[in-house]
Amino acid sequence: MKSFPLISPPIINASGILSYPEVFETFENQGASIGGYVTKSIGPNEKKGNENPVIIYNNSPGGPTLNSLALPTQDLDDWIEELSKIRLKKSLLIASIYGGNPKEFSHVTEKVSPFADIIEINLGCPNKEPGEKTIMESIGQNPILSGEITSSVRNSTDKPIIAKLSPNSDYLAVAEKCLESGADGLGCANTLGPGLSIDIKTKEIILAGTSGGISGQALKPINLLMTFEAFSRFSCPIIAYGGIETWEDGVEYLLAGASVLGLGTVFLGKSTEESIKTTKDIWSGIQSYLQGKNFHEFVGKAHKNIQESK
Ligand SMILES: Cc1cc2nc3c(=O)[nH]c(=O)nc-3n(C[C@H](O)[C@H](O)[C@H](O)COP(=O)(O)O)c2cc1C
Repeated sequence: MKSFPLISPPIINASGILSYPEVFETFENQGASIGGYVTKSIGPNEKKGNENPVIIYNNSPGGPTLNSLALPTQDLDDWIEELSKIRLKKSLLIASIYGGNPKEFSHVTEKVSPFADIIEINLGCPNKEPGEKTIMESIGQNPILSGEITSSVRNSTDKPIIAKLSPNSDYLAVAEKCLESGADGLGCANTLGPGLSIDIKTKEIILAGTSGGISGQALKPINLLMTFEAFSRFSCPIIAYGGIETWEDGVEYLLAGASVLGLGTVFLGKSTEESIKTTKDIWSGIQSYLQGKNFHEFVGKAHKNIQESK
């Protein structure tokens, strides 16, 4: 395993939300408490994704958010041009990538690696265009193939690699293969599902892609358990994603074993100013909780407490 770079503060955006280069510099310049910026997942070929509506945003407490974007991506050369222009002063750049097979993952990695500090492999997207198979079904639920893809990425970059898993998989088996094959850490995790939502007035299915990945608070207990189990088994760096909306959510993930916190759905429906304030509130709340102690002393503390009480 490579030594994992310090992401400071240990908060990042989740791929797919605020994940375009122009946003990164604005947020950094305006003092967001974000130590690393993650791109939208970058694929090997231009892809349109589904037509609207692609997001059902539920802002009632605990309400699930669904998305069926199906990994739209611009031409790889256009991505490279954009990435080459990003000038971050102190935050890291994390390139999220995907493909259909090891060769495609390797190709995208070679292209983006010179511009990225970390490569995040998307193994778990559960939404698709009609007629496609999701990445989750075709790759993320298959430990052997996930390992082969991680190897192909490992052979194409010297940057640290995060394998971002699906909660809807035998995730410890997948994680084991990815870590054996060169991943330096895990992303716990992508959206759950997919799930469905129907408009009772029109009696129609809402999402153009029919089903969508579930994110937000409804996902938190599932990805929290995943983080806990992955840390217990592998003690590796973990980026946690799933319903982190408050500093308390962040602390729970930290105690379960996450060393970096990814924020996604919490930004939906918020202005730039509100989103930046959200990052600051979460980080300052966590810092008050830590009472001057080092963040890393708290990583996985819930495990230590179990062992101590035995
Ligand atoms: C609108 C939207 C787009 C997303 N796009 C991607 C993507 O391109 N790649 C990826 O790995 N995850 C993607 N995700 C998943 C998020 O990165 C994150 O793992 C998930 O939403 C859980 O975090 P949250 O509950 O804070 O949103 C997307 C999620 C949403 C809501």
